[in-house]
Amino acid sequence: MVEHPAGGYKKLFETVEELSSPVTAHVTGRIPTWLRGSLLRCGPGLFEVGAEPFYHLFDGQALLHKFDFKEGHVTYHRRFVRTDAYVRAMTEKRIVITEFGTYAYPDPCKNIFSRFFSYFKGVEVTDNALVNVYPVGEDYYACTETNFITKINPDTLETIKQVDLCKYVSVNGATAHPHVENDGTVYNIGNCFGKNFSLAYNIIRIPPLQAGQFNTFGLTPNYIVFVETPVKINLLKFLSSWSLWGANYMDCFESNETMGVWLHVAEKKKGRLLNIKYRTSAFNLFHHINTFEDNGFLIVDLCTWKGFEFVYNYLYLANLRANWDEVKKQAEKAPQPEARRYVLPLRIDKADTGKNLVTLPYTTATATLRSDETIWLEPEVIFSGPRHAFEFPQINYKKYGGKPYTYTYGLGLNHFVPDRLCKLNVKTKETWVWQEPDSYPSEPIFVSHPDALEEDDGVVLSIVISPGSGPKPAYLLILNAKDMSEVARAEVEVNIPVTFHGLFKRA
Ligand SMILES: [Fe+2]
Repeated sequence: MVEHPAGGYKKLFETVEELSSPVTAHVTGRIPTWLRGSLLRCGPGLFEVGAEPFYHLFDGQALLHKFDFKEGHVTYHRRFVRTDAYVRAMTEKRIVITEFGTYAYPDPCKNIFSRFFSYFKGVEVTDNALVNVYPVGEDYYACTETNFITKINPDTLETIKQVDLCKYVSVNGATAHPHVENDGTVYNIGNCFGKNFSLAYNIIRIPPLQAGQFNTFGLTPNYIVFVETPVKINLLKFLSSWSLWGANYMDCFESNETMGVWLHVAEKKKGRLLNIKYRTSAFNLFHHINTFEDNGFLIVDLCTWKGFEFVYNYLYLANLRANWDEVKKQAEKAPQPEARRYVLPLRIDKADTGKNLVTLPYTTATATLRSDETIWLEPEVIFSGPRHAFEFPQINYKKYGGKPYTYTYGLGLNHFVPDRLCKLNVKTKETWVWQEPDSYPSEPIFVSHPDALEEDDGVVLSIVISPGSGPKPAYLLILNAKDMSEVARAEVEVNIPVTFHGLFKRA
């Protein structure tokens, strides 16, 4: 296992300034001439406002990054997203909007009565778009997991406008991981507040080129798979009390110790939920790898974290910025990562109670019909390493999203510290790894060659920081997707903090 005693990963969580115009990157190796377009990525870039710190990984103010590739040259640009949360923090020089793990104190200038009445105006939900950027038709939006998304200009990185999804569909939050089909249709899942504060999920379908629009879900040509994990927002706490007792989103989560995980399947065209209940033991889930149909089965590949305790409890900035020995000690206590394949039979015969219903020859995953008419799933493990996660999975999405596939690319987390890039063959479990000392990469984005014949004909793009390497502490890394060998890198003279998700926009 690679160790990080110098603690260079702490630089992932340091405030940086935006750029007034793009800077030229210094290229070593040769940028493929067919690689033309922009890598757009989101993450936090401002980790405190004046003397007030943000506390959680998902609290820092959204910074939008872009690497442009044109005729072998690379430039880098970044701008803060002008969300309400950011603009008001800049204007008032304090944290105004409560973030995921940071409570915004009421304005001390207001007296007690005006503060009291302001509670009745309801909770001000953050629009801090630090998680992802995705296209809707011709437009690009930055987002977090609330009802607010922010339209941005993908060329200049300027903020265009805030969009409230609640005005278009009945949701109070949507995932930061929508699916975009090849015709441009966007699918997403949102929470809505049902009767008696029960939580229901709505499927949002946005037809291509139409205005307007808890983690990921699975989408195949005919089905939508939603994984219900034990971690939930307690809506009573969320709606009624949080601003009164100074809570934030993290305080409103609850984890059910006994329910395990339930998987729900809906037919895509009818939007109807299948009457089959799939269950398995508890895990946290943030990212689906891929989902596909095969002969009456749904194959669902997931990056899981075993156990019911909320993994986000370990993602406070104080934990992530600790010295290496302390980082390791904390991560030992956390749920452990495992990439898994679950197989869900779509046709059920009661006569088969007690038997394994999975008849596919290539998997050891099982599905057993129980006498209570639920189906108990046991997974096939596709990647497992002690305290080593295969996370932020990417695939050749355009050609293989929702279809049988072979390869996935992931970010390797070593006790939550991202320190390698990994390609995984989900059939043979063979892996290819890129890793260098004191280097901290981001989610690897696969870009296929324009004339690709094979699934992995193309490159993988990742932003890497290597704080110990002198005047150029960060670079854009280009790997050959076949074997994860380096093709080129484009170095910049500024630090680049952690980014979560993004996309490659072809020119
Ligand atoms: Fe995510």
